[in-house]
Amino acid sequence: MTNPLKDNIQEVLVTSEQIKAKAKELGAQIAKDYEGKDLLIICVLKGALPFMADLIREIDHPLAIDFMAVSSYGDATTSSGAVMILKDLETNINGRNVLIVEDIIDTGLTLKYLIENLQARKPASLKICTLLDKPERRKVDIRVDYKGFTIPDAFVVGYGLDFAELYRNLPDVCILKPEAYENN
Ligand code: IMP
Ligand code: MG
Repeated sequence: MTNPLKDNIQEVLVTSEQIKAKAKELGAQIAKDYEGKDLLIICVLKGALPFMADLIREIDHPLAIDFMAVSSYGDATTSSGAVMILKDLETNINGRNVLIVEDIIDTGLTLKYLIENLQARKPASLKICTLLDKPERRKVDIRVDYKGFTIPDAFVVGYGLDFAELYRNLPDVCILKPEAYENN
């Protein structure tokens, strides 16, 4: 039987069960760290959407959410380095304790830009939570406060991450077969 969504998967790198357990662990840590403080979680669209949705339900603490969309990748698998705000926050973050939730940190260029942009708005604090980290590819130094999984230098899809806007709905984080990229 063919499955148009799953036929191009070469390997599952992180399973949905592993992610669920990690979200629980990180959520408990975040609730503890923000005890007595307000918390605003910023989801970086679109890739961080599933992780953010799962993570916030593991944080037993009052919190608000907001969304930002920035462009980093086009449909290619390499970073252009250019970052543009496609959708800005609705919230004034001045004096707020802000936690950015990202899907993956690759070169770090996107987050570096985002951190500088948000710091200029004078939040009380600004921390970073990422599901995945590809440290081998880092071009700029980023302090990560909460990390899900460190992965090798491979292009991954699933659980929010896309290739040409597809595969975001895969429950696991996967590596695609080489022909999946070539056929696009
Ligand atoms: P950076 O600016 O190079 O750190 O790239 C960050 C953004 O690029 C992430 O938020 C993703 O949207 C995208 N990205 C980086 N690596 C991957 C990957 O392996 N699969 C899918 N998207 C990726
Ligand atoms: Mg992203």
